[in-house]
Amino acid sequence: MGAMIQKDDGFDAAKSEPAIRFGHVSKVFGGVRALDDVSFEVGRGEVHCLAGENGSGKSTLIKIITGVYRPEPGAEMEYFGKAETSVTPNSARGRGIAVIWQDLALFPEMTVAENIAFDTLLGIRPRLVSHKGMRDTARAALAKLGVDLDLEARLNTLPIAQRQVVAIARALVSDARLIFMDEPTASLTQAETDHLLAVVRTLSAAGVAVVFVSHRLAEVLEISSRVTVLRDGRLVGVYQTQGMTQSRLTELMTGKTFDTVVGARDTAANRKVLEIENLTRRGEYEDVSLVVRAGEILGLTGLIGAGRTELCHTLFGMTRPDRGTIRLNGKVLTMNSNRDAVAAGIAYVSEDRLALGLVQPQSIADNLVIPVLDRISGADGLISRRKKGDLVRKWLVDLAIKTGRPEDAVATLSGGNQQRVALAKWLATEPKVLILDSPTVGVDVGARAGIYKIVRALADQGLAILLISDEVSEVHFNADRILHMAGGRMIGEYDPRRTTLHELEEAVYA
Ligand SMILES: Nc1ncnc2c1ncn2[C@@H]1O[C@H](COP(=O)(O)OP(=O)(O)OP(=O)(O)O)[C@@H](O)[C@H]1O
Ligand SMILES: [Mg+2]
Repeated sequence: MGAMIQKDDGFDAAKSEPAIRFGHVSKVFGGVRALDDVSFEVGRGEVHCLAGENGSGKSTLIKIITGVYRPEPGAEMEYFGKAETSVTPNSARGRGIAVIWQDLALFPEMTVAENIAFDTLLGIRPRLVSHKGMRDTARAALAKLGVDLDLEARLNTLPIAQRQVVAIARALVSDARLIFMDEPTASLTQAETDHLLAVVRTLSAAGVAVVFVSHRLAEVLEISSRVTVLRDGRLVGVYQTQGMTQSRLTELMTGKTFDTVVGARDTAANRKVLEIENLTRRGEYEDVSLVVRAGEILGLTGLIGAGRTELCHTLFGMTRPDRGTIRLNGKVLTMNSNRDAVAAGIAYVSEDRLALGLVQPQSIADNLVIPVLDRISGADGLISRRKKGDLVRKWLVDLAIKTGRPEDAVATLSGGNQQRVALAKWLATEPKVLILDSPTVGVDVGARAGIYKIVRALADQGLAILLISDEVSEVHFNADRILHMAGGRMIGEYDPRRTTLHELEEAVYA
């Protein structure tokens, strides 16, 4: 992917006036020191990346700069040459700061046009809102992104990648001079990502600075001229990306080094667990046949829109196929809801942790035990505190979830740690088939390695695993076998031990 886009090395921080300059920024939440004496500077028109593991303080720093959180006393804050003592979201916006949040912060019940033009509607009496004006604004913003969406579609009917596009278009509308993008590409396909990176370059060339957060390091190195690295809430340093490598950046973020090796093994002789034959759901996927064996990690890759997620929804009982059969351990499975799927032993970790995964205001512990209440209840039907505590502790340790207390709301966890809670929740059901749809979106390198170690251990215990990802390298390194899906059909099968990562990427991204 590196070859597709030319990196702009023209930015010279020394010559540029800073857009923002922050010093001595600290933030404490209860007992957690999320930021400790951090400084951060972005030049005008610069593309600057903020890198760090899950929970290192990236989103917190962004929230301070955009006026959502107040820093501890002693912080120095300067916007476009002007020092400030206190900042609110409104005053930050007034200074030309816009932000695209990790959780998008959109209005699911409103249309695409309303969401994009939302800020321009503020302060206008509802009766005077011009629908035409709103649509024009929205259309122009989408055109800048090179995307065509139905302006009247309600947001909650769109897939997450398109909602992301709406959030980005909305930031473009407000004439920002500095845009924060907190993991904007987490749910985008390669093509959509390339498109977004091109837009970021356009913005930068027009003098708009962009601060970019992503756990996909290739992207970080491609798009930015400098990267600020945080670790455990402290500043590690600020680096030119020219000459920087992914492994060096990983080392700066984690203090450790990681190896990537193809983990595939031969599972062809294992018992068939999940068998799908000629499965079709019109308009979504066509004539899909596949087998997942006990102990096998079957990778499924392809671009968004390939029909992968739609197929998962059927396998999880959420939609019904028009044709074809699903067999589990040799028996035909007919499912009328996801309850039937769970009862049959199918678990599904969705790509959209916010919509399908977790109950944000509820505690981490409660979220973890929702699917297994019967197992931790005593004969009297009451939940055993001890069993619940044991189970929660086990998963927090196994998945190295960074949390203050298990009783804290899921909403207080960093994005990547939320993803781990979603995974733990389903693993606790001890399923026969585990469907993982983009399980590491928004998860840092160190934690990815941890999650895949766990996934491999689960396969070794006999679980059949369907691993979906549009990051081809993830399936290449972690799956035993890889299927390629496009336009709703299976169009290729690969053995990662015989196909190089490069060949696979050529096939999928071509
Ligand atoms: N509102 C809050 N209440 C309590 N703790 C919080 C709150 N917001 C953040 N934290 C804690 O502060 C630390 C930094 O979190 P932050 O969200 O800034 O991390 P991040 O670098 O954005 O991580 P990720 O890559 O996972 O998104 C974490 O330990 C997190 O649990
Ligand atoms: Mg974050």
